[in-house]
Amino acid sequence: LSRACVQVIMRRKMLWALFCLVLALLPSQTAVMSVDLGSEWMKVAIVKPGVPMEIALNKESRRKTPIAVCLKENERLFGDSALGSVKNPKFVYRYLQSLLGKKHDNPQVAFYQKRFSEHQLVKDASRGTVLFRNSEEMQYSPEELLGMVLNYSRGLAQDFAEQPIKDAVITVPAFFNQAERRAVLQAAQMAGVKVLQLINDNTAVALNYGVFRRKDINSTAQNMMFYDMGSGSTTATIVTYQTVKTKDSGTQPQLQIRGVGFDRSLGGFEMDLRLRDHLAKLFNEQKKTKKDVRENHRAMAKLLKEAQRLKTVLSANAEFMAQVEGLLDEMDFKAKVTRVEFEALCADLFERVPGPVQEALSSAEMSLDEIEQVILVGGSTRVPKVQEVLLKAVGKEELGKNINADEAAAMGAVYQAAALSKAFKVKPFLVREAAVFPIQVEFTRETEDEDGSRSLKHNKRILFQRMAPYPQRKVITFNRYTDDFAFDINYGDLSFLGQNDLSVFGSLNLTTVQLSGVSSSFQKHMDAESKGIKAHFNMDESGMLLLDRVSTIELLIESQGFNLATLRLTSPTL
Ligand SMILES: *[C@@H]1O[C@H](CO)[C@@H](O)[C@H](O)[C@H]1NC(C)=O
Ligand SMILES: *[C@@H]1O[C@H](CO)[C@@H](O)[C@H](O)[C@H]1NC(C)=O
Ligand SMILES: *[C@@H]1O[C@H](CO)[C@@H](O)[C@H](O)[C@H]1NC(C)=O
Repeated sequence: LSRACVQVIMRRKMLWALFCLVLALLPSQTAVMSVDLGSEWMKVAIVKPGVPMEIALNKESRRKTPIAVCLKENERLFGDSALGSVKNPKFVYRYLQSLLGKKHDNPQVAFYQKRFSEHQLVKDASRGTVLFRNSEEMQYSPEELLGMVLNYSRGLAQDFAEQPIKDAVITVPAFFNQAERRAVLQAAQMAGVKVLQLINDNTAVALNYGVFRRKDINSTAQNMMFYDMGSGSTTATIVTYQTVKTKDSGTQPQLQIRGVGFDRSLGGFEMDLRLRDHLAKLFNEQKKTKKDVRENHRAMAKLLKEAQRLKTVLSANAEFMAQVEGLLDEMDFKAKVTRVEFEALCADLFERVPGPVQEALSSAEMSLDEIEQVILVGGSTRVPKVQEVLLKAVGKEELGKNINADEAAAMGAVYQAAALSKAFKVKPFLVREAAVFPIQVEFTRETEDEDGSRSLKHNKRILFQRMAPYPQRKVITFNRYTDDFAFDINYGDLSFLGQNDLSVFGSLNLTTVQLSGVSSSFQKHMDAESKGIKAHFNMDESGMLLLDRVSTIELLIESQGFNLATLRLTSPTL
């Protein structure tokens, strides 16, 4: 092994941090990447031998890229070019996140269709999911489109690293369930990207935060809350930092996710849309043309762009003159909008700001007193009213603004990518994730009552409780079966979700496992003492549930188990 010490310098608010990477042989072709996949933007970071972790600039030399694909017969454009060069929004696909892993009848699909009336969403007959339909030949699933985006992100990373890249850590929202996570994995597979791990975005942020404060972490637990409002959703995450003793590598710092609260639809994009609709109303009131601007997709796209600029400016100024040249029928548009008006348009959204904080606390069974700091993440936390409401809700003196709200997730994810890649050796930082949604095994068995009559008894065994740490293996033992049987794997009690979230969640049934060959296996091993039938589950680093194997006798697992030695669970959603 050739050893090299690389200084990593983060130029963030005078924070200079150094650490070492021990680099392996093969100086070329060992770069790894991360993609922080939001609903509106993605940020790509790389690490390669000799070069510290860094955000990969895109073709416009920008540090973030809109998640957008423009598909026409002979043309495929991404990012800013997809948004910029297009006259017809019908060919531009954006905000795909809310459609991933959803069935056609999911309320989020109808919601998307309402927001983006230029697109036609149809049912995928075989999977029950959705397709964007432009014509008979041009139909794309959200996963395919995301696959194209991920392939493009890899292109950006490769150009920046000047070498091929295959391995990536990709961020997902903590509230992504099995079907949604699987959709991202499928997209990556279509792009030929090898996913080292799906990491929850706030966990990546927390890792980035912890790595650069390693020396402040000791055996006393410290609790932090990361409040992340992005474009599409909001998540509050409670993280405990402390050092722990490990078997192999001595005392190491650890972060553990303790609580998660979220609002799937609270974010900056809804604010943009309200501003857009306000601008449309103002334009219509100016009566410059007889047409209703709201019926022109292209004009509405221009207004949306101006609304997004307006929101940003109103974060620093009390009022601003919105203007669009040649908005409709070559008529220009100009109107003054104040921050007070903006805040009135979004009043009900601001009321929802404290929700995720309360939910995170209750899932962690903690009170605000136990949280040392509430740290802001995500572009939409720049809106002054969001900070004002949040500050009041958490009752702290101030909100933490000491991380890069835009890039911390991509940087944390690329650190994890380096840690998982065999080409790098990074200082260990243990990450214990938590399962946001409980999972249980259910089965029905015939039992004999005292009077000799037989009846059916429904059994439930909790596999992963809410906030159970992962990665983790679990074994469930079925003691009484000597013949073939089946069990269901379902989500557990989700009553903490509101009615809306439950309807968006999709099916509560993950899969049914049918076991065959049980009696013949028992007969073959009559002499061995039966310890029951054991099902071995694993929730992996990506939060995906796997059923590793099922065995009758613990010692005979690998060779003598059932046909179904390794079964990847298939959710009915996809
Ligand atoms: C992935 O992107 C590269 C350019 O970076 C392109 O040549 C290739 O065709 C793309 N592959 C897929 C599957 O879209
Ligand atoms: C741990 O660090 C905190 C500050 O970061 C300090 O207040 C505390 O005394 C330390 N505890 C131990 C056991 O060293
Ligand atoms: C879901 O699981 C429950 C409990 O095992 C079962 O009663 C129900 O029939 C299942 N639903 C479907 C659609 O499979």
